[in-house]
Amino acid sequence: MQPVLLKNDIYWVGAVDYNLRNFHRYSRSPMGSTYNAYLVKDEKNVLFDTVDEEYSDELLKRISELMDPSEIDYIVLNHMEKDHAGSIEHIVEVCKPEKIFCSVMGEKSLKSQFNTEGWPIHVVKDGERLNIGKRNITFLETRMLHWPDSMVSYLEEDKILISNDAFGQNVATSRRFADEYERPLLLQAMKDYYYNIILPYSPLVLKTLERVKKLGIEIDIIAPDHGLIFRTKEDIEFLLNTYVEMATQPYKLNAVIAYESLWGASKKMAYAIGDGLQSVGVPFTIIDAQENHCSTVMNALADASALILGSSTRNNMPLVNMIGLMAHVKGLKPKNLVGAAFGSYGWSGESPKAINDELVSMGVEVVAEPVRAYFGPSEADLKACFELGQKVGNALKEKVNA
Ligand code: FEO
Repeated sequence: MQPVLLKNDIYWVGAVDYNLRNFHRYSRSPMGSTYNAYLVKDEKNVLFDTVDEEYSDELLKRISELMDPSEIDYIVLNHMEKDHAGSIEHIVEVCKPEKIFCSVMGEKSLKSQFNTEGWPIHVVKDGERLNIGKRNITFLETRMLHWPDSMVSYLEEDKILISNDAFGQNVATSRRFADEYERPLLLQAMKDYYYNIILPYSPLVLKTLERVKKLGIEIDIIAPDHGLIFRTKEDIEFLLNTYVEMATQPYKLNAVIAYESLWGASKKMAYAIGDGLQSVGVPFTIIDAQENHCSTVMNALADASALILGSSTRNNMPLVNMIGLMAHVKGLKPKNLVGAAFGSYGWSGESPKAINDELVSMGVEVVAEPVRAYFGPSEADLKACFELGQKVGNALKEKVNA
């Protein structure tokens, strides 16, 4: 693929990872991903970010279509996670840049991950401007969005925001722009990415969006480091509005039931809970924790505000996939959830209470007592599950209608 023109003398020169499925080892990317890097030709030629190490030759090849890589004067590293900074040693060796710009935390992270001896690192402050000829760049720190080193770069004259991980999506395609892509697929990818990576930093997202608004920055293009680039007024509005919605997490009339079952009893309980939800008009989805990656639950929670978890008991605790699933969800700090716990057992039966406690510690508003089934489930157990579904469904309806 050739470099792709964004605006006069500004190009996408990144790489497309069509077959990436295990994103950062903690999430999934069923549509692959991209590592976007951008090249600006000016009196000083600037490369914004690099790519995963595996793709460094592809990056250099794409740059070579536009200039000899040794003509790159400056490298801006907005973020040091290896999907963006992974090629930096190779790129520095080839390009021998005059300066490498990063945030104060970026320098720390860069020096801790790579052999930076002799590198011309220049730390920029929040709000610092850099002239590169016809253009000025403003650097804005976005600490904890999503790493301490994160920052974004704004090309003032061209009104382009190079936003690093913010506004990213895991989409691998030969198309580069959001207006060329199917909107429902893009929206799903935005949600999957946000809910598994950015979600815990939602208060910062809202603060940053507010700051950008106050600064009065005009934006023609938002160019993230993963996925598609947003270049139309309509798409930028769609992107910003979707981010505000994802960050505020309003109550949504949808429930997620996730379970892990040894011999099928907890599974039957999950389906009876679903019947209860349905009987009060609440749509739901059911996820088997053994058959799905834990990130699937977060994907589903992007459209739901009830979380009902259940597991058999083994060795006095929930099954291991359910424990992993709960850890994944807890770390991402979802807000505005109601929920409940359930599970079957044959010996001691600690699992429902343990899950219930974990839901409470996640900040989920538990609205029903846990349902425990000794083997079975019996008709009485299934009735209790049905009623648990109704209770959660009715509580959710009240929240949505409040
Ligand atoms: Fe935080 Fe795309 O890396």
